[in-house]
Amino acid sequence: MAITGTDINVAKEFLLKGELVAIPTETVYGLAGNALNYSAVLSIFEVKNRPAFDPLIIHTDSLEKVQRYVSDFPEKALLLAKHFWPGPLTLLLPKKQTIPDLVTSGLDSVAVRIPNHPLLLGLLQTIPFPLAAPSANPFGYISPTNAAHVNAQLGEKIPYILDGGESEVGIESTIVGFENDEPVVYRLGGLAVEEIEAIVGKVRLMPHSSSNPKAPGMLKSHYAPRKPLYLDQRETFPEIEEKLTGYLLFNQYLENIDPQYQRILSKNGDMKEAAHNLFAYLRELDILPIQQIRAEFVPMTGLGLAINDRLQRAAAKE
Ligand code: TXA
Ligand code: MG
Repeated sequence: MAITGTDINVAKEFLLKGELVAIPTETVYGLAGNALNYSAVLSIFEVKNRPAFDPLIIHTDSLEKVQRYVSDFPEKALLLAKHFWPGPLTLLLPKKQTIPDLVTSGLDSVAVRIPNHPLLLGLLQTIPFPLAAPSANPFGYISPTNAAHVNAQLGEKIPYILDGGESEVGIESTIVGFENDEPVVYRLGGLAVEEIEAIVGKVRLMPHSSSNPKAPGMLKSHYAPRKPLYLDQRETFPEIEEKLTGYLLFNQYLENIDPQYQRILSKNGDMKEAAHNLFAYLRELDILPIQQIRAEFVPMTGLGLAINDRLQRAAAKE
C-alpha cells in the first residue's frame, strides 16, 4: 500500500526526484509526475498500463504559467480560462517545445487545466514544473474519487497518495479545443455545456467519435466496471432477472427489490450530486456479490450529458 497523507512537502520531494504521486483534484484523483521530465512521464504510462497514443493533461496553478507552455491563446479560450479556472475545464491549445512530445502523444496541441483543489493548488505553487496527470486508475477502469480508490488499484505501484478527501465534482473535466478559434467540446465532463455556452455562445459537440484524431484516447470502453453493465430506461428492465443484479438509478428506488442492491445517484434529482456519486457508486456495485449491473439513463440537462456519456462507455461491450 502507498503512504497516504496530506503533506504537500512529502509529495513535492517525490515529484522532484521524478517519482509519481497521486493527487486530489475536484474532478477525480490524478496520477501525477513532472510533465517536463521524460522518464517521469514514461512511468505514468507504465503504471497506468496506458497506451502511448493516449495523451496526458498538464496541470498548473496560474494563467501566467499556462502561457509558458502554449504558443497561442484564442480569445474565446482566454474568456473560458478566466471564467472557469481553477475548475473542471481542460483546454486544448497549441504547445510550445518545452512540453515533451510524449505528453501529447506527438500531437501539436497540449491539454491544460488549472484544477480547483486547495491542497493541490498549494503543491502546484511550490514546484517549478507542471504536473502531467491522467486519472489515477488502471487504463479502462472507473476513475477514482477518493484516496482509498487509488490505493486499492495503484497502491502497490506508487510511493505516496496526497489525500484531499472526496473529489467534489466526481467526473473528469470537460475538454474544449478550438477550430478556427471556435470552441469544440471533445469530452463532456464536470463543466456543463450550458455554462460554457453562456460565456462564448453555441459550441460544437464532438465527444469521443472514434474517427476523431484530436482525441485518440477517448475510447469507447473507458470507465468500465468489471461486472457487465446494461444501460436502458428503467421501464425496459426485465421483470425477472436470471442473474443477481445491482441497480444504479437516478432518483428513485425500484419497488420489490432489496434497497441494498440499489444506488440512487441523487434523491432530489440534482445533477451535480448525481455526478459526484456516479463513480463511487459504480465501484460499490462492482464489489457487491452480484453478477451484473443495470443502470438507467439520467435526464439530459446540465451534467446529465456527461453522466450518460460515462454510463454509455461503461456499458460498451467491446
Ligand atoms: O478531470 C480530469 O481531466 C482528470 C484530472 C486528473 O485532471 N484527468 C483526466 O485525464 O481525466 P485522463 O488522462 O484520464 O483523460 C485525458 C483525456 C484523454 O482522453 C486524452 O485523449 C485527452 O484528454 N487529451 C489529452 N491531451 C490531448 C491532446 N493534446 N489532444 C487531444 N486530446 C487530448
Ligand atoms: Mg482517465
